[in-house]
Amino acid sequence: MAAVILVGTQWGDEGKGKVTDFLSERADAVVRYQGGSNAGHTVEVEEQQFKLHLVPSGILYPHTLCLIASGVVVDLEQLNLEIKSLEERGIDIGNLRLSSRATLVMPYHKKIDEIQERTGKIGTTGRGIGPAYADKINRVGFRVADLLYDPEFKERFKAEVERKNLYFEKLHDEPGYDYRELYDQLWAQIEPLRPYIGDTSHLVYELLKAGKKVLFEGAQGTLLDIDHGTYPYVTSSHPIAGGACVGAGIGPTRIDRVIGVAKAYTTRVGEGPFPAELEGPLGNVLREKGAEFGTTTGRPRRCGWLDGVILRYAARINGLTDLAITKLDVLDSFETLKICLHYRNNGRVVTEFPENLTLQKECTPEYIELPGWQQDTTGITRYEDLPVNARAYIEKIEEITGVRQVLISLGPRRDQTITGGSFF
Ligand code: GDP
Ligand code: IMO
Ligand code: MG
Repeated sequence: MAAVILVGTQWGDEGKGKVTDFLSERADAVVRYQGGSNAGHTVEVEEQQFKLHLVPSGILYPHTLCLIASGVVVDLEQLNLEIKSLEERGIDIGNLRLSSRATLVMPYHKKIDEIQERTGKIGTTGRGIGPAYADKINRVGFRVADLLYDPEFKERFKAEVERKNLYFEKLHDEPGYDYRELYDQLWAQIEPLRPYIGDTSHLVYELLKAGKKVLFEGAQGTLLDIDHGTYPYVTSSHPIAGGACVGAGIGPTRIDRVIGVAKAYTTRVGEGPFPAELEGPLGNVLREKGAEFGTTTGRPRRCGWLDGVILRYAARINGLTDLAITKLDVLDSFETLKICLHYRNNGRVVTEFPENLTLQKECTPEYIELPGWQQDTTGITRYEDLPVNARAYIEKIEEITGVRQVLISLGPRRDQTITGGSFF
């Protein structure tokens, strides 16, 4: 099997970076297909920690092609910074490719994001993601290729910056931008990236045709999807498996497998409904044990027990074929553990994730209790060696979702991983 999509099944930060890096050893290419520098994917190799935002998490393997596909919104300044910091740490980025169709995140997108957050708070990462995707859909965005090849780029850009300046100056009493300064900045930022720019959709096609192994690395998570998440408390792209086809530019018939990454409990960063949230001391214990602080913004993540309703939902929306369960070790010391099997709303049992915000907010979780294992699992490398209660916990997740696990993660490092079988 050659084309594997990896998606977050919750609200992001499930450990996609760690799992992607782990699978990259066997992959020929890793493709980021949506989102932007709002993503924060952590990879730990031996004593080193890498935080990746735009660069795919396969970059630490020298043989893996790493593609930033057209569905990603790219902040050139951030990308250059990320490349520089990787190079300073001895990572070769010769295998990086950037889609000429990718839309650019402009400085004014970040400023609009900031202004919007002052009033209607979504709790965004402040990376300009929503405004950049809005411009893309509104057909007033700019792509990498526009900057490089469109003879009318400068004129179009000038007109758009002037339009944005009206919004800043007239509506928000904020200074606008000098389009010439922005234009010069863009050129300075794109020049060093030129060798990496190309048609990534065609490249993926050629790779798959040649029988190569391609991993599509989702950012964010299912419940942050613009259509299927907790709208409007979502991101502005399609983190779900379907988004991989759109964002990478390949047909759905090419996909062989969809792996859902599920954290052994639930977290969310930013505002919005979270039925299984634990706001008391127990939530703090999970946050401390799991080191649940945002990779991109450093914000404390909201924490709760595992929510089976959203995992079942993620299994359906993404058509999951496999599960990767991460951070199981974080639960090592608990005497008992809880899993939410359904919600209750006005006396009614709710088994499907509700489709609107009001209903989502009204739901209270109902849990089953499972015995903990109270044993350190961080050094375990074989499934059979896991404590019996840990295996029972995993089997419960498989039962709830109807999806089998293929990978268990018991720590941030590569060697803290249990797998049985092949992925491609
Ligand atoms: P991503 O956005 O889905 O890639 O996840 P993040 O990198 O934002 O957050 C996951 C955090 O958990 C990172 O700090 C990882 O290093 C860490 N991590 C990943 N897998 C495990 C695991 O199995 N156990 C523990 N304790 N930490 C993990
Ligand atoms: P990774 O890939 C967790 C959340 C923000 C906010 C909402 C909208 O590391 O899992 P945005 O800046 O995208 O407009 O913010 O989405 N969010 C994430 N939460 N992990 C992420 O990425 C996220 N990217 C965005 O906190 O609630
Ligand atoms: Mg993250």
